[in-house]
Amino acid sequence: MTLATAASGVEVVLDGRAWLRAMAAEVRTGLTAVRKWLPSTLFYDAAGSALFERITETPEYYLTRTERALLQRHAAEVVELIRPREIVELGSGSGRKIRDLLDAAGAGSERALRYVPMDVDPDGVSALVRNLGEDYPGLRVHGLVGDFLHHLGRVPPPIGPRLVVFLGSTIGNLHPGPRRAFLAEVGRLIAPGDGFLVGLDLVKPATVLEPAYDDRLGVTAAFNRNLLRVVNRQFGADFNPEAYRHHATFNAEASRMEMHLVPDAHQRVRVAALGLRVEIAPVETLWTESSYKFTMGSAADMLAEVGLALRGWYTDSRGMFALALAGWP
Ligand code: SAH
Ligand code: TRP
Repeated sequence: MTLATAASGVEVVLDGRAWLRAMAAEVRTGLTAVRKWLPSTLFYDAAGSALFERITETPEYYLTRTERALLQRHAAEVVELIRPREIVELGSGSGRKIRDLLDAAGAGSERALRYVPMDVDPDGVSALVRNLGEDYPGLRVHGLVGDFLHHLGRVPPPIGPRLVVFLGSTIGNLHPGPRRAFLAEVGRLIAPGDGFLVGLDLVKPATVLEPAYDDRLGVTAAFNRNLLRVVNRQFGADFNPEAYRHHATFNAEASRMEMHLVPDAHQRVRVAALGLRVEIAPVETLWTESSYKFTMGSAADMLAEVGLALRGWYTDSRGMFALALAGWP
């Protein structure tokens, strides 16, 4: 083992059993609600993470491509403004996007830099620690397996100016209440002068949004149904995933895409670990995910709610996606 990889590691702050108990409680609440829903954090088991990677490569899913181009174009400018010695990435996933920022921040040189990725998917965090440790011998990687809604307090104290990044419009998957609580916690991670770089998908016509969440090859549909497989495996449920149709629709009033699973016939489901039986009629849906869409105004408002301000706004010529750089005013 080289010195560089010895300096890197993965810290598991997620208590797997407590997390599963919390998820079980959410599954119960969701399946017994008048409008049924399931918690979207459960999407990302190994199969779900692999399917998500394939979504990002479908022609319809413009988000990943657009955001990567923005990062390539503006990483140097962001680094110039913040001069980070540390990059903390929330929901890092496969970490394919972070390299532009790491390069711009001088990770390839002798400059001492720390990278702290946090994700609930332990495989993703381990792979990142391994790969980046090899490719950037000078980089210290402190991987955290944790839930960014509950464990931001477990991010180690800063070693210098800090840039927190939250890409992929994952913030769009939070409803306004939890999002506000999350942003308040992010505010505690950064000091005046530090930055929070967040990827936001922008409001646009439903004719562009809906195909992005319902690709022709059915990858997104498979990703959505995989949630039922996770619930079957984790909580001893007997969902038949193939009995549900994937439905993705833009709710313009709420400014969000909604992903649902709609049964094609009456379903009787048992969730053994919860001692729960549910009936799902074909007129009902299981609401599995939301993806809020923003404007520069709504982004500024959302940040202002927790006292943060926009310091930069980077967008493509067609106004598809934006990177917002936030900080203390
Ligand atoms: N940032 C990557 C991945 C986005 S997919 C990109 O832009 O492509 C969302 C990622 O967030 C997944 O890797 C998922 O495992 C992670 N995630 C979802 N909910 C989470 C939570 N509550 N805490 C930590 N990670 C979470
Ligand atoms: N943050 C991504 C988004 O909102 C997550 C995502 C992409 C997603 N495709 C999905 C979530 C399909 C559910 C279903 O775009």
